[in-house]
Amino acid sequence: MQHDSIRAMEWTGASLRLLDQRLLPARRLYLELRDPAAVADAIRDMVVRGAPAIGITAAYGLVLAARLRQSAAPDAWLAGLEQDCQTLAAARPTAVNLFWALERMMQRARQLQGDPVPALEAEARAIHEEDLAANRRMGELGAALIGPGAGVLTHCNTGSLATGGYGTALGVIRSAWAAGKLSRVFADETRPWLQGARLTAWELVQDAIPVTLLADGAAAYLMKSGQVQWVIVGSDRIAANGDVANKIGTYSAAVAARHHGVKFMVVAPSSTIDMQTPDGEHIPIENRDPAEVLSLAGQRVAAEGAAAWNPAFDITPAALVDAIVTERGVVQHPDAEKMAALMA
Ligand code: MRU
Repeated sequence: MQHDSIRAMEWTGASLRLLDQRLLPARRLYLELRDPAAVADAIRDMVVRGAPAIGITAAYGLVLAARLRQSAAPDAWLAGLEQDCQTLAAARPTAVNLFWALERMMQRARQLQGDPVPALEAEARAIHEEDLAANRRMGELGAALIGPGAGVLTHCNTGSLATGGYGTALGVIRSAWAAGKLSRVFADETRPWLQGARLTAWELVQDAIPVTLLADGAAAYLMKSGQVQWVIVGSDRIAANGDVANKIGTYSAAVAARHHGVKFMVVAPSSTIDMQTPDGEHIPIENRDPAEVLSLAGQRVAAEGAAAWNPAFDITPAALVDAIVTERGVVQHPDAEKMAALMA
């Protein structure tokens, strides 16, 4: 398909190859992983990141676990797999896709008799393929909401690198661009990991979609200038009432969007919707190493002696969201009732 040439992960049949996103865009290096502990480390250390990509990676991690435990007796095999599942689940706390994918894999594992590896491999591949298909569908649905000649702003990286391919918010931007609807694409640089500057800009440049970067603090001023009509973001977890957890800085963008009359769109597959979590207050927010804020590319930039606060995500209340786009359909002005109807 046009405008989609990158893959974050590749299953070889015996190992998982991950594009090391920490090195992009300077270097394109694939790591080859063969056991679930290495996969958990890769998720925690941001080799791979983005909610759907983390879930798909963890699913393949369980296939590696099943291969390594293949010779054990059936009972011991399943108990061992449960342990590997815990290791993978502990890698990062906010993106619900991680737990969703692991639960789906374990449900399949618990039903199996005989050699479990082919069935688990098929399940992981299905999770991967379904995510890609969901992104394509969301691309169409989201692009249909955008009027001609619109400018858009996105935050973090929600593209092929963050998913099974094509992307969530970036998938909508790809589809809207292909349909000739967009005048400009702006991307926040997204401190402290610079997913916007390093990854979103890299993906868009590869696909020949012109992109303009801005410092995160410039977003409200951009909105005031009238150059953007939509802010389009992904999500790591959407609560049952439509509150949205996403990369730190999303909430500021949503507040600024509402103030300036700019529309705010969240694009996420149904695997990101967590009906067990009633609202944003109950979503666990990952706090990462203060060193990520105090440094830039491994080089200390902050004054010695300063401390840092480094929440990786924030919560945007449902009331600030104009549309949640999923592969099941679009929810305008989300609330608990509409989310329940979508997920029924
Ligand atoms: O810390 P990251 O890079 O894993 O955070 C990623 C995001 O916040 C994305 O916006 C989100 O996962 C949606 S990606 C399709």
